[in-house]
Amino acid sequence: MIRTLVMLLCSLCVIGCGKPTPSERSVRPSEVLDFDTLFAQRCAGCHGNNGAGSGAIALHDSSYLSVAGKFTIRDLITNGREGTLMPSFQSNTGNPLTDAQIDSIVIGMSEHWGGDVPPFARGRRYEVQQGDASKGRGAFADLCAHCHGQDGLGNEAGSVVSPEYLALVSPQYLRSVILFGRPELGMPQFAGKTDDQTIDDIVAWLQSHKKAGATSK
Ligand code: HEC
Ligand code: HEC
Repeated sequence: MIRTLVMLLCSLCVIGCGKPTPSERSVRPSEVLDFDTLFAQRCAGCHGNNGAGSGAIALHDSSYLSVAGKFTIRDLITNGREGTLMPSFQSNTGNPLTDAQIDSIVIGMSEHWGGDVPPFARGRRYEVQQGDASKGRGAFADLCAHCHGQDGLGNEAGSVVSPEYLALVSPQYLRSVILFGRPELGMPQFAGKTDDQTIDDIVAWLQSHKKAGATSK
């Protein structure tokens, strides 16, 4: 009886205080492959819990995921987007993601948040292209001014032409935001309301304030 107790105590100690069994061994950061864990640790701070949007655009949107495509998303996680706050998860020396972890995030996003793509989003172009700023000005007045003001300086919604803001975001991001909105903030999506060229024109007009701001302020 005592012997069994001692053995039990010993084995408890082996589990509790000694070397952990394989199933208990804490998983090294580079071995974590669970999508929910990886997303929560590495992406949610900027893109929101469950990809619902926060400082940066929501990712839990089947339209967005299908138009951006897995290849683009994988490339972005790997390399980041230069000149913006979107970090590279492979060149950051502190705690890089392995290829397998990046795959888990890309596949997990599509499995969790992909699915039916509304007709207006099918076949839309993701990449931003050269636009015509003067046409963009007119399109902005039609589509955006009632919330962001005639000059984009803000009305019900904030300014979208301040050089400080434009210095932080890429033209591609502006295009994505216009296409898919920030519904969680009250910014509507325009993928169903206007064409690809018009969006590029608006982006060009927004961007023109960046240059003006850089030289005159
Ligand atoms: C119904 C009102 C409404 C309309 C229309 C609207 N927006 Fe917005 N937009 C918002 C709100 C609300 C936000 C959230 C931030 C804020 O309040 O400024 C926002 C945010 C933005 C942002 C910042 C997003 C980010 O993640 O950095 C951009 C850029 C933007 N809008 C551009 C546009 C453009 C371009 C149009 C026209 C094609 C447009 N918006 C039309 C309400 C609107
Ligand atoms: C430090 C904040 C931060 C973290 C962490 C972060 N992002 Fe981003 N992400 C951003 C910002 C800011 C942008 C917009 C960059 C720009 O202006 O082009 C962005 C852009 C993106 C885009 C492209 C949006 C577009 O323009 O179409 C994707 C996709 C994306 N992030 C996915 C992720 C994923 C997946 C993770 C986690 C592995 C992640 N991000 C982690 C801040 C972050």
